Amino acid sequence: MTGTTVLTRSADETRDVGRATAGLVHAGDVIVVAGELGSGKTTFVQGLAAGVGIAERVVSPTFTIAREYVGSVRLVHVDVYRLERAQELLDLGLEDLADDAVLVVEWGDVAAGYLPADHLAVRLTPGPGADTDERTVSLTAGGPSWGARADAVAAALDAR
Ligand SMILES: Nc1ncnc2c1ncn2[C@@H]1O[C@H](COP(=O)(O)OP(=O)(O)OP(=O)(O)O)[C@@H](O)[C@H]1O
Ligand SMILES: [Mg+2]
Repeated sequence: MTGTTVLTRSADETRDVGRATAGLVHAGDVIVVAGELGSGKTTFVQGLAAGVGIAERVVSPTFTIAREYVGSVRLVHVDVYRLERAQELLDLGLEDLADDAVLVVEWGDVAAGYLPADHLAVRLTPGPGADTDERTVSLTAGGPSWGARADAVAAALDAR
C-alpha cells in the first residue's frame, strides 16, 4: 500500500483534494472515505463529484443510504455509518452497485470487511494544529488497480 498525506485548512481545500482525485477514477472503482463524524468525508466527495462533472450538490445520503449522480461517470455515494446492521450492507449488493460506476463509501471502517481489497482509502483526521478547520487527509492505494495509480495520485495532489 502506498499513501500520500496532505494538510487542508478549509472545506474548500478538502474539496480541491477530491477534485484532484477525480481525474484518476473510472467506472468500477471503489473509494472508501473514513473519518470521525464531521471530519469532512462528504466534503471530500463533493469535490470528487464536481471533478467528474456532476453539477448537483452532493449531500449525505441520510435517508436513502445510497445516492446516484451522473457526470462523466456514474457515481454511487453510500453512507454506511447510518446502517444499523452489517446485513443491510450486504443487502445493498455493493459489488453490483459498483459494476459500472464509481462507488464511494463513507465510513469505511465499519464496512472494511465487506469491501474489495482494490480500493482507494481516504482518511480524514482533525489537526494536526489546534485550528478546527485543519484536516489531515491521507490517500492510500490498495490492491493492484489503485496500486498502479499511486504515483498518479501523489502527482495529482501535488498539482492542486
Ligand atoms: N479542512 C476541512 N475539510 C473538510 N471540512 C471542513 C474543513 N474545515 C472545516 N470543515 C467543516 O467540517 C464539516 C465537515 O462536514 P462533512 O459533512 O463533510 O463531514 P462528514 O465526515 O461527512 O460527517 P458525517 O460523519 O456526519 O457524514 C463541514 O461543516 C465543513 O465546512
Ligand atoms: Mg458525511
